[in-house]
Amino acid sequence: MKQKLFLLISIISLFFFKESFGQPTTPNQDGRKWWKEAIVYQVYPRSFKDSDGDGIGDLKGIISELDYIKSLGVTAVWLNPIYSSPNDDNGYDVSDYRNIMKDFGTMADFDSLLKGMHERGIKLIMDLVVNHSSDEHEWFKQSRSSRTNPYREYYHWWNAENGKPPYRYSLFDVNHDAWKYDSLTNAYYLHYFSRKQPDLNWENPKVRQEVFNIMKFWADKGIDGFRLDAFQFAAKDTTWPAFPKGFEKDFSKYYAMQGNLHGYLQEMYKEVLSKYNVMSVVEGAGNSFTDAHNLVDSNRHELNMAYAFDGVNIAKPSGYSLLHFKEVFSRWDSAFQNNGWLSVFLANHDQARMVSRFGNDKPPYRALSSEMLTTFIMTMRGTPYYYNGDELGMTNIGFTDIKDYRDVQALNAYQHEKNIGGDLKKFMKREASTSRDNSRTPFQWEDAPNAGFTTGTPWIKVNPNYKTINEEAENNDPNSVLNYFRKVVRLRKDNLVLVYGKYELLDKANPNVYAYTRTGDGEKLLIVLNFTTHNADANIGIDVKNATMLLSNYKNAPLSNKKTITLKPYQAVIYRLPM
Ligand code: NOJ
Repeated sequence: MKQKLFLLISIISLFFFKESFGQPTTPNQDGRKWWKEAIVYQVYPRSFKDSDGDGIGDLKGIISELDYIKSLGVTAVWLNPIYSSPNDDNGYDVSDYRNIMKDFGTMADFDSLLKGMHERGIKLIMDLVVNHSSDEHEWFKQSRSSRTNPYREYYHWWNAENGKPPYRYSLFDVNHDAWKYDSLTNAYYLHYFSRKQPDLNWENPKVRQEVFNIMKFWADKGIDGFRLDAFQFAAKDTTWPAFPKGFEKDFSKYYAMQGNLHGYLQEMYKEVLSKYNVMSVVEGAGNSFTDAHNLVDSNRHELNMAYAFDGVNIAKPSGYSLLHFKEVFSRWDSAFQNNGWLSVFLANHDQARMVSRFGNDKPPYRALSSEMLTTFIMTMRGTPYYYNGDELGMTNIGFTDIKDYRDVQALNAYQHEKNIGGDLKKFMKREASTSRDNSRTPFQWEDAPNAGFTTGTPWIKVNPNYKTINEEAENNDPNSVLNYFRKVVRLRKDNLVLVYGKYELLDKANPNVYAYTRTGDGEKLLIVLNFTTHNADANIGIDVKNATMLLSNYKNAPLSNKKTITLKPYQAVIYRLPM
């Protein structure tokens, strides 16, 4: 009887499910959601488009390019922080969470931006930077002023009469020391990032309430989601145990998912996230699949999805192995096939350019390998996050002079290297290929001074290759990287099987080709990607003779026989297989 009732309920809900969304598919346990089907385009506001000639991108600049963003087909934008900030870390040091950074414009500009996005059917995801604030935030000014100030407990302090605090590693500090001595109150404060980014004390319920109110302020404005910056580090063990010597080599193990982090997220869900139609994504996924699941399993009422770094961390300056790449992405997919949800990305503002790291930015291969990597991102299960400029195949600039760098991380690391008498030549070589500034050079709009980004002096140098790699030229060329991007985005939107379908790796041991299928509801797509500069065979065990080729970055279909297909350098191909 019970079983029959269950069957009946399942059939009825299936009916309603199909009714409300129109297209059948096979979502995992949590069902269909807009944020799973979203294609997220990341806009780095400082470098996107300058409207007033001060050399810094701004909100009016983004507004002027909303039709461009719409033309890409993307459905959501993740905006890096635009709040008031002294810009020690390009906005990741917030001094007022309810105001807009002067360089970027006003709240009225923000309101027009949000309206303009919504009119075009584009959702807005805001960065929420609350593991730390700026040291110029009023809370911190109060907190540092005296030991008895009501804001003292908003941050982590260690009184100096107790000796030196147990060592904590700082990612951006010149000495990598996360405790900064402050003579005013004879105490140290904690900063996992730069000295101007003191960590907020999440163990203090008042801090949590402040953050929830800030989130409500933005959610009430109608934004569609939050990206929680560095949030896996937010909770701390405030007994400050000593960590083993050398822990900093694996600091995430000691910093991520500590204390009552899950409790704070559940509180955030109850107070804010459950009350609005907003999505949430956390930077970092802890140290294991269990951590990742605990963050995003819907029945735990915490967050919607997480970014895991394993994928982007594969590429080293010396290169990477495709077998490793396949193993990592397949493993993460398998962990989420039944419950929870993934984000899929190969680049962002914290990484060097996608094509320079994972593809090949030399002229004969730049366009092809960009397209091949984009095909990968858009055909995997999980929500794609795509970084602005990658749709043009923008490349690393590779600064060789420290004077050209702007990133606090690069500048402080250089100073550190100098202080310890390190090999600066080696350091600069490495930085040229890995620095975050590689992805922060201005967006290349046209073959005009400063790539059409600004009429003033850009805050960071423009990549000289803008003369050929730019939006205007690519928009006019039907075979450009940009127009390929539009096609593959369209394909993802038209084929929900690419969002929800089961992923299966083929020809696993092939070191040159990544091949997989996506299957769901009577449909099967095959994706085959050549990651090399030479022709490569894929032993997929499928005869594609009767398959329909939906997209390729070459004019001609690959040669194939019963079981094997031969791809040209960096060829990407998507087939629909007969069922
Ligand atoms: C992660 C952000 O993506 C990065 O840009 C920033 O420097 C750190 N968190 C600190 O906020």
